Amino acid sequence: MRNFRKNSFCLLLIGLSQFCLAQNIHKKNTNPANKEAFIQTLISKMTLDEKLGQLTLYTSDMSVTGPIMRDNYKQDIMSGRCGNIFNAYTPVYTRKLQDMAMQSRLKIPLLFGYDVIHGHKTIFPIPLGESCAWDTLLSEQSAKIAATEASADGLHWTYSPMVDITRDPRWGRVAEGSGEDPVLGSAIARAKVKGYQGTDLKSKESILSCVKHFALYGAPVAGRDYNTVDMSMQSMFNVYLPPYKAAIDAGAASVMSSFNEINGVPATANKWLMTDLLRKQWGFKGFVVTDYTSINEMVNHGNVANEYEAGVAALNAGIDMDMQGAVYITYLKAAVEKNEVKIADIDAAVYRILDAKWQLGLFENPYLYCDEKRAKNNIMTTEHLQAAEQTATASMVLLKNDNNLLPLKNEESIAFIGPFVKNKRDLIGNWSAAGDYTQAKSLWDAVAAKTVGKASISYALGANVTDDTLLIQKMHIQEFIDKRSAETLINEAITVASKANIIVMALGESEGMSGEAASRSAIGIPPNQMNLLKAIHALGKPIVLLLSNGRPLSLSWENEHVSAILETWFLGTQSGPAICKVLFGDENPSGKLTMSFPRSIGQVPIYYAAKNTGRPFDNNQKYTSKYLDIPNTPLYPFGFGLSYTQFNYSNLQLNQNQFKKNDTIAASVTITNTGKIDGYEIVQLYVQDLVGSSTRPLKELKKFSKVFLKAGTSKQVCFKITMDELYFYNANMERVLEPGQFKLFIGKNVNEVLETSFELIGN
Ligand code: NOJ
Repeated sequence: MRNFRKNSFCLLLIGLSQFCLAQNIHKKNTNPANKEAFIQTLISKMTLDEKLGQLTLYTSDMSVTGPIMRDNYKQDIMSGRCGNIFNAYTPVYTRKLQDMAMQSRLKIPLLFGYDVIHGHKTIFPIPLGESCAWDTLLSEQSAKIAATEASADGLHWTYSPMVDITRDPRWGRVAEGSGEDPVLGSAIARAKVKGYQGTDLKSKESILSCVKHFALYGAPVAGRDYNTVDMSMQSMFNVYLPPYKAAIDAGAASVMSSFNEINGVPATANKWLMTDLLRKQWGFKGFVVTDYTSINEMVNHGNVANEYEAGVAALNAGIDMDMQGAVYITYLKAAVEKNEVKIADIDAAVYRILDAKWQLGLFENPYLYCDEKRAKNNIMTTEHLQAAEQTATASMVLLKNDNNLLPLKNEESIAFIGPFVKNKRDLIGNWSAAGDYTQAKSLWDAVAAKTVGKASISYALGANVTDDTLLIQKMHIQEFIDKRSAETLINEAITVASKANIIVMALGESEGMSGEAASRSAIGIPPNQMNLLKAIHALGKPIVLLLSNGRPLSLSWENEHVSAILETWFLGTQSGPAICKVLFGDENPSGKLTMSFPRSIGQVPIYYAAKNTGRPFDNNQKYTSKYLDIPNTPLYPFGFGLSYTQFNYSNLQLNQNQFKKNDTIAASVTITNTGKIDGYEIVQLYVQDLVGSSTRPLKELKKFSKVFLKAGTSKQVCFKITMDELYFYNANMERVLEPGQFKLFIGKNVNEVLETSFELIGN
């Protein structure tokens, strides 16, 4: 014990002296006016190895999302050959690593990054779920709380927001984004950056954001992760790029290059993307990091012959930091000697990374974020948990509610059946990296607390989340699998359900069925759970289906046979209480879908902003654009979501019917809550440009507003649309505003709308 104390004391002294030394080295130039001089002076002292070290990011040994390629990173930190670490957190651990950096020759502080995607320890709904709240204030709030907790836990930098537009639910990573629409996606992107970074990066509570995956990662062919992206420039500029641009305009400090190629050139070697567009056109001043081993992977892509060439291509394209691949540190010295990479370009990349460290205040105090007290006091606070519950509540989408089956009445006897009733593990969803599922509150716990002494409740598992043994193995969920046969589980559930008046079935995907490397070719509820659902349905009792999933599912059978369906995604730490409140009517659901739900997998990619085609759908005409077996429309359209009350739309008005280039369109509508319950309504405004020099989508979301209406009251909702919002990129890639006729729609989802029209005249 005594020795331990002595050692601790010595360590403390060493730490202190290193800190003071670092302060002395860096102090002189920490004044904002000196930033450039300070960084340039530092760069002038650096060896090429040290420079390449600043361009290098390694994973620590805490957790990884890919192959570990480097296990001696600690040595690299001390020798200045690694300037950045990810997958390391807690003040104690980051302090230990920072101590190592303070032993390097120039004592440049390490930057600590991590995947803080939907909360750090207090886990919020998965981003796709949160986007269904259509609430930028909530999006900003969850990012702010994530930043507060992450920074208290030693972190400087999050790999979020993920703003990839996604129109193909086979792709597992749809869970991480905000769905299919660029206007909503851009609004959420801005909110997230603001939440993470705050107004002052030097504040201890703000962290750097990193917008990803630049670019177009959400459009892999066939929805298969890491697959090729092949896209027209018009789709890029009109649909897929706006959210990245919005994040950058909001001040995102960093950008992550995507794994995919874009029209033949991997994003990580794409000079047009990284330099011409990102830096020159969009004016991005921060740094670009690759995704995990993206530089190395170019050899597989086949645009380079070896890692040396890959490194040269990446650096020359404008990539600053090499995540985990060790290509820059291994090969760029030789590339400089051969004059295939310019030292000026390396210096520029180093500058950008040191600038980020400088902005965080790390040169003034490398241990700024290593504060054990904050870690104790600022993580999973009551306030954070309340905010997570509020967001979880707002993220649920009521898809069906025949005969107002929901909300449930306390006095009924209710059977809760399914693998998500007592489940905790899945609730925090994928990419809840530092999240601890044991802290999550299950539906059962919440319901039991709620119904004490009131309704009679009963439970049966009914089915495992899947009985596909290969999948169970891949997802490492053996320990969560009930070993009894599927038949036994179903029979038990039938016995329990037979005694109840109402059956709540909690079914869905396990968290590992979406996220990275989790594309699915069938997007239904897993077959063993469907067997359970059909067996319970045969009892002829009313069923409420609660869904947990990370992507739109195909739910045609369920929609036809089940009375009520509530989409709950993966709602995070406070899942149980949030679902329980909606189930029993303490909260009125208000979420609306941000991705279309197909009728069948054969319809994907499916999205509302489609084009009319030369032969639009006509059921009576064979030679029109359609399927023989199902309609073209999705099962649940974009923007769809029910409430426990009803909203009526009336009196759609425009300030004028003709507009000129500099005019502003003012549109208004009256919304009335005609039901008996107060509630939020998400009002959506769409536009259709009827004739364009390039064909235009049938509808495009331009505005939205979330309004609260007490039962029986009305509100006028007004929107202002500037002409800038009607511009688009034509076939010649000119951004144009074209005179002509437009339709304008306001409604409760993309299909249920009031309609008017206007004309844009002259130019
Ligand atoms: C790979 C993922 O694509 C990316 O989103 C993530 O940030 C990195 N790994 C780091 O974990």
